[in-house]
This record gives sequence, C-alpha cells and structure tokens, in this order.
Amino acid sequence: MSEKAFVMIKPDGVRRGLVGEIVSRFKKKGLRLLRGEIMEISRETARVHYGHLQDKPFFEELVDYITSGPVFAMIVEGKEAVANARSLIGPTNPAEAPPGTIRGDFGLAVEENVIHGSDSPEHARREIRLFFEK
Ligand code: PPS
Repeated sequence: MSEKAFVMIKPDGVRRGLVGEIVSRFKKKGLRLLRGEIMEISRETARVHYGHLQDKPFFEELVDYITSGPVFAMIVEGKEAVANARSLIGPTNPAEAPPGTIRGDFGLAVEENVIHGSDSPEHARREIRLFFEK
C-alpha cells in the first residue's frame, strides 16, 4: 500500500549543495516527490519536531543546528515509503552508516548528519502536518 514519508535535508546538506544529489537518490529508488520546499524552521517548530528529545543533553545544540540555515523539506510517497526512505538514509551516526547510504556517503558525525527521515507512518503524518500544513 502506498504511504507517505517526511524527509528533511538538514542545513549542512543544503549548505553543501547536496539537495539535487539526494533528491535524485529518492527518485531512482522509485519514490515520488510530492512536495519539496526550501524553508527556514523557527526555533519553536524545531522544539516541537524534536520534543521527544527535550531531556537529552544535546537538545539545545540540535535546535541550534536545525535552525542554522534553510532546510529542504520533502514529502515522498510510495510502497513502504517510511522504511524505504530510512534504508536510503542509513543509521543515525554517519561514522557507522555504510557507504551507499546518504549518511554514509555524505556525513562525518552525528551532530551534522545531513538528513532526517520519519521513523514511523504515524510520525510521518505528524511531521507533514507540522512542516506543510501550518
Ligand atoms: S536517541 O538519542 O536514541 O533518541 O537518538 P536517535 O533516535 O538516534 O536520534 C534522534 C535525533 O537526535 C539526533 N542526535 C543527536 N544530535 C546531536 N548530538 C547527538 N549526540 C545526537 N544523537 C542523536 C539524531 O540526529 C536524530 O535526529 P533526526 O533528525 O531525528 O535524524
């Protein structure tokens, strides 16, 4: 069954000119790009998006990072879009992400890991509302 996933190229990925390359990987995989928008995230939106991490020691750094420049927010659609997007993206820590994954190919460390992908269809719906239906 077709499903939607929320994917966001983070400020380091946008700054480094990786949007075209990353979008093309999703398309080659067979996922459809329903929306794709450059946007600035407010600190308030960042705090809501990462609300589940507010007790982590890195929370403020995460908010600083994600608001440090424009992001490229996307809705991708296709069969098992959430799981397929996450397999393209790779593990959270780029140092542990295999070559061939986006984080494995383009990132060095967890503090700047290039891209976010929703971790469940339910979170995808919440993130799509937060970023595209405000
Ligand atoms: S956790 O700690 O188990 O909840 O981590 P995880 O689910 O893997 O990651 C959640 C998001 O937090 C980011 N993260 C970090 N940012 C900065 N510093 C450190 N140490 C760190 N660890 C995790 C990670 O990139 C995840 O961001 P998203 O955007 O959801 O991928």
